[in-house]
Amino acid sequence: MGKILKKSKYNFDYIDLGGGMGISYSSINKKLNYQKYNLAINKFLKNHKTKIIFEPGRSIIGNAGVLITKVIYIKETRSKDFIILDAAMNDLMRPALYGAEHKIIPALKNKKKVNKIYEFVGPICESTDKFLTQKKFQKLEEKDLVIICDVGAYGMSLSSNYNVRPKPIEILIKKSKVEVIKKRQKLADLI
Ligand SMILES: Cc1ncc(COP(=O)(O)O)c(C=O)c1O
Repeated sequence: MGKILKKSKYNFDYIDLGGGMGISYSSINKKLNYQKYNLAINKFLKNHKTKIIFEPGRSIIGNAGVLITKVIYIKETRSKDFIILDAAMNDLMRPALYGAEHKIIPALKNKKKVNKIYEFVGPICESTDKFLTQKKFQKLEEKDLVIICDVGAYGMSLSSNYNVRPKPIEILIKKSKVEVIKKRQKLADLI
């Protein structure tokens, strides 16, 4: 950026570094090294009289939310089992929209490992209504709850009533205080 500014010969009042810091959605995602980022910015500011603006999105709230969903049906096939959840792409659009991968964990742990591929999908008949394919997972049964992680950013805000699906309840947990911040929608609310 320093090189570009030198070429432009213009004194910018501010420079907007935008967002994109993100969060680590899985163990293979590399985390941004904020210490290095900070050092690079401070070094830049020593040579440039300008203000820096940030637009962090996911890094503030991405890991503050989870989507708890129930297994409504397990469809077994030879190559994999489809774990059909009661959450769908209308509730969490990121995987369908741009292939985002959100870790899925069981709500209650058991020690029964399965040697099958689980494909976590929603109940909407759209080929994009899927969340994740997981190789090693504990054995799941219908009615089990699973947790889709890190949906605090672009989760509820990207959700919709597609397929006439009412939106879920939203609960805020602060220390031991639990508060309903959005009521579960009813079908009548959509009509
Ligand atoms: C203009 C603008 N700035 C910042 C952000 C935040 O991006 P991120 O969540 O990657 O930090 C967005 C996300 O949509 C955006 O549209």
